[in-house]
Amino acid sequence: MIIVLLGPPGAGKGTQCELLARERRLARVSTGELLREAAARHTALGELARPYVERGELVPDEVMIGVIREWLTENAHAERAIFDGFPRTITQAEALDGVLADLGRQVDHAVYLRVPTEELIRRLSGRYVCPRCGATYHLATSPPRVPGRCDICGASLTQRPDDRIEVIRHRLEVYLTQTMPVVDYYRRKGILIEVDGARPIETVFADIQAALPPVESN
Ligand code: AP5
Repeated sequence: MIIVLLGPPGAGKGTQCELLARERRLARVSTGELLREAAARHTALGELARPYVERGELVPDEVMIGVIREWLTENAHAERAIFDGFPRTITQAEALDGVLADLGRQVDHAVYLRVPTEELIRRLSGRYVCPRCGATYHLATSPPRVPGRCDICGASLTQRPDDRIEVIRHRLEVYLTQTMPVVDYYRRKGILIEVDGARPIETVFADIQAALPPVESN
C-alpha cells in the first residue's frame, strides 16, 4: 500500500503521517523533514535547498524527484509506505507514478487534509520546535511546561525559519498555485480521500482510518 498525504502548510500532514505510519506499520518519508535534516548537517542537498525553504518556495522538481527516487531505491523492500510533502507539483506526481510503475507499484490512496487559511496561520505562527529531539509545541494550544524549553530534552525551542508570518503567507500562495492541481490529479484518478482537517487530531485520524481499507487487509 502506498499513501500520499496532501494539504496546505500546517494542515497536519506530519502529525497524521506519524500516527498512520505507527498504526499501519508503514515506512514514512517526509520531504520537508528530510530537507531540514540535510540543512542541519550542511550536506550538498541541504545547502541547495536552504534558500528555497527559507523563502517558502518549492525546491526544484528535478532535485526532489531525485531525492524520492533515491529513497525508493534504498527502501525497495518497503512495499507499504506513506509520503508526507511529496508530490507537490504535477511534474512530481507524474514522476512518482513513473518510478513506482518501474517497481510494479502505484499510489493507492491520496489523503487530502482540508483546513481554512486562518486556522493554518494560527497553527504555524504559534509553532515552536525542539532542534534536538524534534518535539513540536504551540504557544497557545500545547505550550511547553517551562517557557522556551523542550519538555522532553530541555533544549531551547526555536521557530522554523519558514514559520515567520510573511513566509507563511508566501507558502500558502505557492500551495494554491503549484500544489492544489495535484489534489485534482488524484481526484481524477478516483483515489482521493478528502478529510476535514480542522478538527481535533484524534478525530481527523479516526476519519482517515475509516476511509482507508482495514489494517488487516492493507
Ligand atoms: P514541509 O515540512 O513539508 O512543510 P509544509 O507542507 O509547509 O507543512 P508543515 O510541516 O508546516 O505542516 P504539516 O501539514 O506537516 O502540519 P503539522 O503536522 O506539522 O516543507 C517545508 C519546505 O520544504 C517547503 O516549503 C519547501 O520549500 C520544501 N519542500 C518539501 N517538500 C517538497 C517538495 N516535494 N517539493 C519541493 N519543495 C519541497 O502541524 C502543524 C501544526 O499544527 C503543529 O504545531 C501541530 O501540532 C498542529 N496541528 C496538527 N494537526 C492539528 C489539529 N488537528 N488541530 C490543531 N492543531 C494541529
